[in-house]
This record gives sequence, C-alpha cells and structure tokens, in this order.
Amino acid sequence: MSTPVVHFSRRYHFSASHRLHVDALSPDQNRDTFGKCNNPFGHGHNYVVQVTLSGPVDAATGMVTNLADLDSFAQRKMLDLFDHANLNTLDLFRDQVSTTENLCVEVWRMFCEYPHAILRRVHIEETGNNSFDYYGDGAPISHLD
Ligand code: NI
Repeated sequence: MSTPVVHFSRRYHFSASHRLHVDALSPDQNRDTFGKCNNPFGHGHNYVVQVTLSGPVDAATGMVTNLADLDSFAQRKMLDLFDHANLNTLDLFRDQVSTTENLCVEVWRMFCEYPHAILRRVHIEETGNNSFDYYGDGAPISHLD
C-alpha cells in the first residue's frame, strides 16, 4: 500500500508597515502609480500568511510534520524578521517594491527551505478585501531531507 500524501495549512499573523515607492520614478509618477500607498510616512497592515505544505503521512506519528517544528521555523525565518517591522527597511525589499505580490515570493523562498514537507502554496491576506497566492511558479521545487 502506498503512503498517502496529505496537504496541510497553517496561518500566521504579523503587523508591519510599508510604502509603495520606486526611486527611479518621479514623485508624480509614484503618486499616479501607487496612489495613497505612496504616502511618504507609510501605512500598516495586519498581514495573515497561510502556508500550505504536503508530504507523506508518517506511519508511526500519523503526521506529515510536527506543527511545533513548523511554528518554530516560521518564528525564526519569518515572524522575527517581519513582525512590527518597516518592510521597506529590510534587505529583502532594498531592490524591489514592498507589495504583497513580492512579499508572497519572499515568504515562498523562506518556507521552501522547510526540511520536513514540500511547500505548495503561500497565501497572504493584506486586507479583508485583498489576498495574494503564490504557487512557486518558476521556483525550484523544494526537497525533503
Ligand atoms: Ni499597503
């Protein structure tokens, strides 16, 4: 009998500020492109990140991975960096706009390193009305150790 593969999802929350701005554009072009998100003083969001991972169900534990392992990985790799940060000041956003599209890709890069399951989706809710999904299109498939 083959080992069943199960997808599971876990939600994390963090609060951060950002400003949508491209240095190469003029002030008018920035305002036209980003509207009030270009406000020089920035603004904040309570981001909700949901990661979906999959893997074989371990015959002994009945689990794909231990959630405590995933939570400590999320804390170390993502929450310690993003929570109560100004995203624009981080190295990750030095050369790219701190949109939630780009944030999805950066979160993907973090969780695809998780050694105990395969990352399948990153879903980020920026507001109650906006959410973004990244399935790693074009990204290398993560590997199990
Ligand atoms: Ni915003």
